Amino acid sequence: MPKITVDGKLIECKDRQMILQACLDAGYTLPSYCYHPGLSIPASCRICLVEVEGIPQLVPSCQTPVRDGRVVHSNSTKAIANQKQVMEYLLINHPLDCPVCDQAGECSLQDYSYQYGRSQSRFEEDKAKKPKKDVGDKIYLYSDRCIMCTRCVRFTREVSGTSELYVDGRGHREEIDIFPGKPCNNKLAGNVVDLCPVGALLDKDFLFKQRVWLLKQTPSISPSDSGGENIFLEHNEGVVYRIKPRYNAEVNKWWISDDTRYSYHAIADRKRLKKAMKKVQGSPTAVSADEALAEAVKQLKALAGEGSGRLYAMLSPMMACEEAYLLGRAIRSIDPEAVLVLGPVPSAAQDDVFHDYITKKQTFVIKAEKVPNAAGIRRVIPMLGGPSATFDELVKGEKAELKNLKGGWIVGGYLSAWIPPQLPGAFKGFKVVQDTLATSLGESGNVVIPSACWAEKDGCWENFAGKIQPFSAAVAPPEGVRKDGDVYLSMLGQKGLYHAEIVRTEMGEPFASVKMADHHAAAPAMEFAEL
Ligand code: SF4
Ligand code: FES
Repeated sequence: MPKITVDGKLIECKDRQMILQACLDAGYTLPSYCYHPGLSIPASCRICLVEVEGIPQLVPSCQTPVRDGRVVHSNSTKAIANQKQVMEYLLINHPLDCPVCDQAGECSLQDYSYQYGRSQSRFEEDKAKKPKKDVGDKIYLYSDRCIMCTRCVRFTREVSGTSELYVDGRGHREEIDIFPGKPCNNKLAGNVVDLCPVGALLDKDFLFKQRVWLLKQTPSISPSDSGGENIFLEHNEGVVYRIKPRYNAEVNKWWISDDTRYSYHAIADRKRLKKAMKKVQGSPTAVSADEALAEAVKQLKALAGEGSGRLYAMLSPMMACEEAYLLGRAIRSIDPEAVLVLGPVPSAAQDDVFHDYITKKQTFVIKAEKVPNAAGIRRVIPMLGGPSATFDELVKGEKAELKNLKGGWIVGGYLSAWIPPQLPGAFKGFKVVQDTLATSLGESGNVVIPSACWAEKDGCWENFAGKIQPFSAAVAPPEGVRKDGDVYLSMLGQKGLYHAEIVRTEMGEPFASVKMADHHAAAPAMEFAEL
C-alpha cells in the first residue's frame, strides 16, 4: 500500500488512487468542485491544485495518482495563492445572493469562500447577468450561479445516459443548457441537483421551503420499489421536506431515482387516514383508535370461536418485516390456523435500466416491482409456519383452506391511493382494514385503523437481491395514529412499545444481525483504471 505525506500527515492510500480521494478517505479535506467519485475526472475547476515535491508546477490532486513516498503540500504559499485566485475568479460573476439561495448552508462556493477565499472582491465592473432557465419538470437552472464544474453534464452522459445537459458557448459566455425541446426529465434527473456544488441547479419541489441548516437527517430506505435505495429523510419540526441519497456501494452508490426522491409526499398526503372508524348499522362512524382495536379483536375472536381456520391476515409488501411477524403472531393468537397472505405486489412491465452513453456500461436500475418488501414478507410468512396462500389463490378461492374464511385483517399502506380493483372484494366477511390513505379498501372495511407510514416507524425491508436493510422513524405519526407495531403488541397482550431491534432479535437470523450501515462512511475511491 503506498503512503504519501500531505501537509505533514502520513496517509495510507490504495494503489492507483488519486491524491484527492486518498485524502478524503483519510478524513483530510482538500477543496474540490468538479471532482465527484462517481463521475469521470475533467480536472477543470483547478481549486484542488497542490504542490508535489519534485514536480515544478502545481498539479490537480483529483487527477494525480498517489505514488509511495510522495510529499504533497496543499497549504504551501503557491497552493494557497492558487486557491485564492480560483475563488476570486469564480466570484467575479457569481451573484452574492446567498440569503435567498436554496443552497446556502450546503454550498461549496460559500464554504470555500470562507476557508480559502479573499475577504474582499477587487472586481468593480458589472457582473455578467445570465438567465434563469426551466430545464426540466422538476429543475430550475440559475445560470449566473453556475461555476461550470460540468458535474451535471457528466451525470447525464455517464450515469443516466440521457445527455440532456450540455455546455453551450465558450469562455465567459459558457452556459449549461438543454437541447431545444429536450428537457432534463429522465427518471434520475434529481441527482443533478444533488451534484451541483452551488445553487445553480435547484429542485422546484424544495425551492424556498426550508433553510437547510434547520433540517435533520434520518437514515431510511426507499419505499418506491424493491431496489432498496439508501436515503436520508430530511425533516424539521415533524415535517419531511426532502429525500437525499445515502451512499451504499452495493445498492445505489450515490444516486436515487426521482420516484424515491419524491416519495415523501405520501407522508403528508391530503388523503392520509387519521381517524379510526367502525361501521355502525352499515354506516362508518369515527371512534377512538382503542375502541376500533377493541371492536376488531372482539369480532375476530367471535369468528375464531366458530372453529379454527376462519381468519386470515393480508400482510402488505409495504409493511416492515418486524410488523409482518408481529401481525402474523397476533392473528394466530386469536386463530392458530389463520391464513397468512402476501398482499398484491404492483409491478411495471420491466426494470428501467440506465447505461453510460459512451461506454454502454450499466450504471443504475430502477426495479419494476413497485413495493419495497415483497421479498421480506415472503421470508416472514414461512417463518411463522401454518397455512398461507398467495393473493391470486385468495382471489380465486379454490384452495380448500380458503373456503371457510369468515374475516380477517388487511394491511394496505401503499404509497398512492392505488389498490388493485379486485382487492376490496377479494376478502369476504368481517374486515379490519389498516391503511395509511383513504381508499376503496378502507371503505369496504368494517373497522378501519389508520396506519403509520414508513417514515414514522422503525423496521427493515428486504430488497429484490435479498439484502435486509433497516430504516428509522424520522417523524411522529399524525395525532391519533398508533404505530402498527404497537397495535400488534396490544393484540398480543404485551406491555411496552414496539421496538424493531427487540422484535428482530426474537425473529432470529437473518433478522437478528440486521444493523444500520455506517451511512457516514466515506465513499470508496474510484480507481484510475475505472475512469
Ligand atoms: S449547473 Fe451546477 S453542476 Fe452544472 S456545471 Fe454549473 S455548477 Fe456545475
Ligand atoms: S476538483 Fe480537481 S480540478 Fe476540480
